[in-house]
Amino acid sequence: MAKTIKVNLGARSYDISIGSDLPIGGALGNKSGVSALVVSDTNVAPLYMERCISLLEKRGITVFSAVVPAGELSKSLDSAAELYGNAVDAGLDRKSVIVALGGGVVGDLAGFVAATFLRGVKFLQVPTSLLAMVDSSVGGKTAVDLPQGKNLVGAFYQPIEVVVDLDSLDTLPEREYISGLGEVVKYGVIWDAELFDYFEQNIDAMLSRDKGVLLNIVKRCCEIKAEVVAEDEREGGLRAILNFGHTYAHALETVSGYDKWLHGEAVSLGMVYAAKLSATACGFSEDNVHRLISLLDKLGLPTSLDEPPAWSKLRAAMDADKKTLNSVPHFVLAERMGKVVFGCDVEENTLKKVMIGVERKKYEHKNK
Ligand SMILES: NC(=O)c1ccc[n+]([C@@H]2O[C@H](COP(=O)([O-])OP(=O)(O)OC[C@H]3O[C@@H](n4cnc5c(N)ncnc54)[C@H](O)[C@@H]3O)[C@@H](O)[C@H]2O)c1
Repeated sequence: MAKTIKVNLGARSYDISIGSDLPIGGALGNKSGVSALVVSDTNVAPLYMERCISLLEKRGITVFSAVVPAGELSKSLDSAAELYGNAVDAGLDRKSVIVALGGGVVGDLAGFVAATFLRGVKFLQVPTSLLAMVDSSVGGKTAVDLPQGKNLVGAFYQPIEVVVDLDSLDTLPEREYISGLGEVVKYGVIWDAELFDYFEQNIDAMLSRDKGVLLNIVKRCCEIKAEVVAEDEREGGLRAILNFGHTYAHALETVSGYDKWLHGEAVSLGMVYAAKLSATACGFSEDNVHRLISLLDKLGLPTSLDEPPAWSKLRAAMDADKKTLNSVPHFVLAERMGKVVFGCDVEENTLKKVMIGVERKKYEHKNK
């Protein structure tokens, strides 16, 4: 029960393997004399580090490990500096590989270190959170945060292999899993109406983490991301569609502080806003707006806030968005289910009117 997807980027092409109990390091072959530094965090390392090391050692690779504290604060230049030190101590050279074993934080951090250590060593992704499986591990964006903002220092740097072991989702905390479903739903809206239908038909299976359904969903999301990235690796155009719901989400995260909402939760709220804007400005049907809200609700994602931040604050945060030019935010909006357009500027009073019109109710996230 495994699937392989190719990310076609010429000489930088690579495979994403998705399944259970998968080998790691196939792209390296059996390489004695090669060293690896496996980077993980304090939650994931106790669960999966040993297995990862033993799979790499079976290939004759000499393996070192480094563990950073779990959480966004580890996506920093300080953590990167520590990892450079670990890499020097381990004697990594240009034939070596850095392996990211964890969620998007570890993937972005380890990828940035791989891109810059010795001007670039090989990089392998073993994502363990749902968000990392369907989004951050594919496509080559690596970054660390600065005190001034998220992802301000980084590089486009593709991995040589992505290994998605669905079994690791068994231990992912409920709130993190549900948050990952926010990014999953996005793929149906932006690219594939049939995938959206599939979500609607498989809500219980998604919530119970059914492996067969997850295999189909993670595979399709990775295929879509691979297709988009193959066409526009450096976000010159098409890749921006992956930001559906993100203009509002980033503004909400900035205004509320990064510890209030998980990313997928903020994206869920952002998609509701983008869907309502789409209905006003782009002909997205009210029925589709309702379908999206209903699906997100049933998956346990937030779709409304009882006390939304002041519009003036959200609007100011939107101005700081990378996609805002001359104070005009450029939205990804939906024309129909499975088809979005990028670069829509919406009249200022519509932005506010739609925001104010979003229904208010209290959201309780699952804290398990
Ligand atoms: N590079 C990209 O294209 C891209 C895209 C989207 C998001 N991101 C970045 O990804 C990060 C968010 O990623 P995330 O949501 O995976 O966060 P995360 O890496 O912080 O992981 C979420 C939490 O789950 C834990 N965890 C992960 N896998 C686990 C498992 N299998 N079992 C038990 N616990 C597990 C982690 O320790 C952490 O506490 C952000 O920094 C964001 O900027 C990057």
